[in-house]
Amino acid sequence: MRPVGRLVADVLTSLREHAKIGMTTWDLDAHAAEMIAAAGARSVYLGYHPSFGAMPYPGVLCISVNDAALHGLPSDRVLADGDVVSVDFACELQGWVADSALTFQLGTASDEAQRLIATTSAALDAGIAAARPGGHMGDISAAIGRVGRQGGYGINADFGGHGVGRTMHEDPHVANLGRRRTGLKLRSGLVMAIEPWYMAGGDEYVIDDDGWTIRSADGSLAAHFEHTIALTPAGPVILTARD
Ligand code: MF3
Ligand code: CO
Repeated sequence: MRPVGRLVADVLTSLREHAKIGMTTWDLDAHAAEMIAAAGARSVYLGYHPSFGAMPYPGVLCISVNDAALHGLPSDRVLADGDVVSVDFACELQGWVADSALTFQLGTASDEAQRLIATTSAALDAGIAAARPGGHMGDISAAIGRVGRQGGYGINADFGGHGVGRTMHEDPHVANLGRRRTGLKLRSGLVMAIEPWYMAGGDEYVIDDDGWTIRSADGSLAAHFEHTIALTPAGPVILTARD
């Protein structure tokens, strides 16, 4: 799974460099689609149609801006100075899938957004550090929840991480809130996506009429970070690590 992890990491790094004020989120999607094609990979988002979506997924990226947290559809929205942009990307290469996400702020930084972004990224680091063979799934969930609550952020555990392998969404579920030493016993060989997402305000979200886009109910900013990791006897290996 290392080659697909590397590709997913490279696409996210490139998107972050490529993203500019004045572009649309469709422009970012097109950039990722070109990279997928050039690598001989396949999108696992395009055409994906779980029961909640009003239509099959139209792009190769989820791009969630400002109050949008997850599953934002690429659109004609023009990116503006100060926008908080969450990009989530997964694809398949040589029969294996990797899934990763990051959030960045375009142009002028604000303290509020930078603190939210840094805290969400730190929660991912804490979740990964808690992922050890012999430990429990609840160790990961508790580590993520603790960082978010300490930051004073809204956390909603309805969406979280998941096993990754031949397909994007596999068992087990990786909740973003939980208790240590509870849940599935973690074993070497398990590959999963860990993905904290927080809202600057409360714990509630709303879903757009498209059935996809998840936004903070109070309109506050949201951030999302995700890595695909493999558990080994030596500890977690981050398959989607960026340089
Ligand atoms: N990659 C997202 C996740 O982290 C899911 C994307 S759903 C899709 O689980 F429809 F956009 F594919
Ligand atoms: Co995921």
